[in-house]
Amino acid sequence: MYKYSFPADLETMALTTSVERDRANAAEKALTRVAIAGATGYAGQELVRILARHPRVRLTAAMSSGATSAPRPLPALARIWDGAVQPLDVDRLVNEADVIFLALPEAASAELAPKLLDRGVRVIDLSGAFRIRSAADRERWYPATTALPEGTVYGLTEGHQAEIRTARLVSNPGCYPTAALLALEPLHRAGLLTGPVVVDAKSGVSGAGKTPSERTHFSENHGSVAAYAVFQHRHTAEIEQELGAAVTFVPHLVPLDRGILETIYGNLKPGTTEQQVADALTAAYADAPFVRLTGGALPEIKHVAHTNFCDIGWKVDQERHRIVLVAIIDNLIKGAAGSAVQNLNVMLGLDERTGLL
Ligand SMILES: NC(=O)c1ccc[n+]([C@@H]2O[C@H](COP(=O)([O-])OP(=O)(O)OC[C@H]3O[C@@H](n4cnc5c(N)ncnc54)[C@H](OP(=O)(O)O)[C@@H]3O)[C@@H](O)[C@H]2O)c1
Repeated sequence: MYKYSFPADLETMALTTSVERDRANAAEKALTRVAIAGATGYAGQELVRILARHPRVRLTAAMSSGATSAPRPLPALARIWDGAVQPLDVDRLVNEADVIFLALPEAASAELAPKLLDRGVRVIDLSGAFRIRSAADRERWYPATTALPEGTVYGLTEGHQAEIRTARLVSNPGCYPTAALLALEPLHRAGLLTGPVVVDAKSGVSGAGKTPSERTHFSENHGSVAAYAVFQHRHTAEIEQELGAAVTFVPHLVPLDRGILETIYGNLKPGTTEQQVADALTAAYADAPFVRLTGGALPEIKHVAHTNFCDIGWKVDQERHRIVLVAIIDNLIKGAAGSAVQNLNVMLGLDERTGLL
């Protein structure tokens, strides 16, 4: 029969509790401290959602623009992250985090990132402020960015892990360029493409951020599809920079809340076979956990919504040397918050999938 020994049990309990407390403290200390500026935006809220559940980090601060002085909760994230969003505070960011995510308008990132880097923290910036290397192109598309800080790396994770691992500032790729580059880079590198490439892209409305405009207003967007910014979109410069080739990029707004589908039209060098196309893509993504090749079964936005996957399918017309690729991502995950966390994992030497699968 169980005999209750009061003092001995209490002693054991106290010991166990202190061992457990020490273990918990040690585990807490082993976590990397991360913080988010722009946590109330569409991309920022996705970051909170992912980082709050990431097993190797501790989310220490989530900040808004500072336009409101009172801390506020994020109702959609209750029980996922129960902290309060604070107004932007640079000192707090630097004191409370080792890696800081910026999910801000690019002018705000252009101003803030160099200050954070000067104070010794690492930064992952989701805006376009630091993506363009040519000063002339940067002045045209991102005039608020006067220079690229030392240690800035363009952060398309796939194939760029070595640079990202040691970067001080990871400039996360744009949403449209992510899908276009993942589809095109392996074929371009293998020398299979020739002549013009057309990237015909469709995006859900969250790509424009949370501030409503006439174009993104429900009654304008619902029941319609519109091309916009033809020859005027800064993602053209980004795709061309990274691909090293000219593209015609035409974005469209479609009445979806999230997701990007790109239909990419290209010409293959005469003699290129369907097998060569498949081999180039398969070799490029053999070790890429978030790129799923679907071959002739063309992917749809619903297959990747709310995930960090990029699905790529293709059709080849061997006789006429034509290729059509279809690449899809969730603009807020693989196009923003998910790839930013994928980059964080690489920076910390973790498995790329940590917290994302
Ligand atoms: N949406 C996408 O699909 C997507 C994809 C890839 C990259 N991006 C890039 O990621 C960044 C964030 O995009 P988003 O769509 O999440 O934007 P958003 O919904 O408009 O959110 C912007 C966030 O920045 C804060 N903010 C605005 N002005 C600020 C300032 N001057 N100083 C400090 N904080 C400020 C806002 O705080 P308040 O709530 O206080 O206003 C909000 O938290 C942008 O640079 C965008 O280009 C977006």
